[in-house]
Formats: sequence, structure tokens, C-alpha cells
Amino acid sequence: MTITINLATASYPITIETALRFQIKKRLEEMGCIRLAVVTDSTVWQHHGVSMMEQLLGFQYDLTILSPGESSKSHENLMSLYRRWLDFGLTRNDMVLAFGGGVIGDLTGYAAATFMRGVPFIQIPTTLLSQVDSSIGGKVAVNLPEGKNLIGTFYHPKEVWIDPDYLFTLSDRIFKDGMAEVAKAGCIMNRALYQILDTCAQPLESKDAIKVISMALSVKKQLVEADEKEFGCRKRLNFGHTIGHALEAYGDYTRWTHGEAVAMGMVWMTRSAERAGLSEKGTTAELVSLLERMGLPTESGIGLDDLMIWLSRDKKKTCSGIELALMKKPGESFLYELSQEDLYTFLSP
Ligand SMILES: NC(=O)c1ccc[n+]([C@@H]2O[C@H](COP(=O)([O-])OP(=O)(O)OC[C@H]3O[C@@H](n4cnc5c(N)ncnc54)[C@H](O)[C@@H]3O)[C@@H](O)[C@H]2O)c1
Ligand SMILES: [Zn+2]
Repeated sequence: MTITINLATASYPITIETALRFQIKKRLEEMGCIRLAVVTDSTVWQHHGVSMMEQLLGFQYDLTILSPGESSKSHENLMSLYRRWLDFGLTRNDMVLAFGGGVIGDLTGYAAATFMRGVPFIQIPTTLLSQVDSSIGGKVAVNLPEGKNLIGTFYHPKEVWIDPDYLFTLSDRIFKDGMAEVAKAGCIMNRALYQILDTCAQPLESKDAIKVISMALSVKKQLVEADEKEFGCRKRLNFGHTIGHALEAYGDYTRWTHGEAVAMGMVWMTRSAERAGLSEKGTTAELVSLLERMGLPTESGIGLDDLMIWLSRDKKKTCSGIELALMKKPGESFLYELSQEDLYTFLSP
């Protein structure tokens, strides 16, 4: 199955297919690639390096294997990629492959965007989160010690190649982490996806994986196409993230995964919205039951005063307040602006 992203500045296909990992060589040859820079992490390489090496046979390539984890999305790694690529003699006629989860995709995409003012790159996402979310939409970034994604730009891949079979080597926790983003996509814009999640086998079987990945991607596609630079409706993708980011920071990025924090954030927001009459009655209970079924946490146990300290650092704040993405009912969402003072009352238990 192929979904195309159509933007004023770029248009590119996302292919979702089992066994796509065995077509990489053929696809690169069809694109006329000769020289490649491949970036991955050691866990991905441990599971899928042998199959990738077979696909790279016959190409001249430079391979960078980084340590797994968020700390790899660093300025130091960015510099070391630039140096490696200079030594290798990478040019704008060559191709970069980002082979891994969102960390590898974001870092490699940012390096590709800026090296020689832009080298083409392909995303081969290997986590559920990166397959349904981070590999499309063009956001690429590195972290600073002061915060996540503080240095970044919009730079789209030439293509995105998604093989759901990569997901079978993920740990249960990282798989569920991505499922939170799938649930979010259902919540904000796709009632049918929400219903599938409520009934399909857990963990997902291959056929369900293709279906839910493509449905979640379609939600992102629609919002990215309508608002590439996130001035308006794309912000609905942040449902659960305002509180989720605060919880992640509160837990020092180790206590909860991103998806766990987003799941708890979605519940907190929906409960507040329901109380304020902005969500239909029963929406929170429905959401809690879905997330519990998916094995995701729904309550953080953190008090509002502790949360507010981290919320006030949110980079999505505007000068007048904060813009929240809220769910009216499963499959329908909207943006709602509140002042800092009203936010406290809105979120109060
Ligand atoms: N650009 C965007 O629009 C966007 C959107 C959402 C998130 N992000 C970013 O994505 C990052 C999180 O992405 P992630 O959750 O994929 O994290 P990740 O890349 O750190 O991957 C999570 C873990 O899974 C391992 N892994 C990857 N593929 C595997 C496989 N097939 N089998 C076994 N293990 C595997 C990795 O080694 C890592 O330890 C964050 O940095 C976040 O800021 C970006
Ligand atoms: Zn997210």
C-alpha cells in the first residue's frame, strides 16, 4: 500500500508492505543510487543488520552505528556525522538512509537537511512510533542539554519505506509506546481506527498492523498537508502531549516512555474537557477503557501543582496562554486556547 504526501514544497510516497526490507536494494537501484550513507543504532543493527547488509551489497556506503536512546540525538553526534560524511565524500547526488526509530530519523534527517545545504534521504522506520508518526511530516531535530528538539527544521524525506515486520523484534514496552500514538490518531480524527483498536487482537497481528499503521498515517497526512508548518490544525496531533511532555520531564525521561506519558496526558485533558462541558459525557470512560485494554497507563498520580511547574516551560505556549488539543468525542478534536490562570482551574481535579 502506498500513501502519498502532497505538499506545496514536496511530494513523496510512503510505502507500507510486509517484506519490504528485502526490496531495499532493488528500490535503491531503481532510484539510480550508487553511494549511500547509512545511519542506524546498535539495537536495530543487532536485529536487522544482516538483512540490511545483504541489501547494501554492490553499493559504496558509509555505515554509522550509534548507541540506542534519546541521548544519541545530540549535537556531538550531529558533528560526528558531518565529519564522517565529509571523509566519505558524500555529495548532494548521493543518498542518506535513516534506518531506525525516531531518534535515528530525527538526527539523520536534520544532518541530511543541513549537510551541503541538503542531501536527499530515505526514512526506513523500525519502531511503531516512527512508522506511524515521526518518519512523516518533515520535522527533523536534535536536542540540546536545555531541552528536546530545540534545534530543528522541516525537511522531507524522498521516500518512506515501512515494513511492519520490523516491529516483531520490539520490546513489549516500546511497542505499546507507539500504540499510544496510534490511539491518539484515532481519538483526534478517526473513529473507525478507534473502534478497530477496541476490538483487534493485542498485541497486533501482521494484518492488523498494516491496517492501523496506514490509518494512523492517513490522519497525520491530512493534518500535515493542511498545515505543514504547524500554525493551525496540525496542532491537533499534540493531543495528550502538553501534559505528556510535562510528565516526561517530571519523570526525568526515564520513569515513563513518551507514549505512556501521552496516554496519561490524553486522559487528564479529556477528563478536564468533559468536566468543562467541552467533551461529550462518557468520553473519558471510553478512552480509559481503550488505553487499559492496550496496556497503557491512565493515571500518573502526580499532583497538579507539580505538573504546573513543568507545564509552564512548554514551548507551545503563546504569549497570551496555551493552546490545547481536546477530544470532543472519539474521532473528533479541536483546538482550545486558555490563559495560564484559567489552565490551572481547567486542569484541577
Ligand atoms: N519528527 C517527528 O515528527 C517526531 C514525532 C514524534 C517523535 N519524534 C521523536 O522520535 C523519538 C522517539 O522515537 P522512538 O520511540 O522510535 O525512539 P528510538 O529511536 O529511541 O527507539 C526506541 C528503542 O527501540 C529500539 N529499536 C528500534 N527499532 C527496533 C526494532 N525493530 N527492534 C528492536 N528494537 C528496536 C531502539 O534501539 C531504541 O532503543 C524522540 O526523539 C522524539 O522526539 C519525532
Ligand atoms: Zn508523540
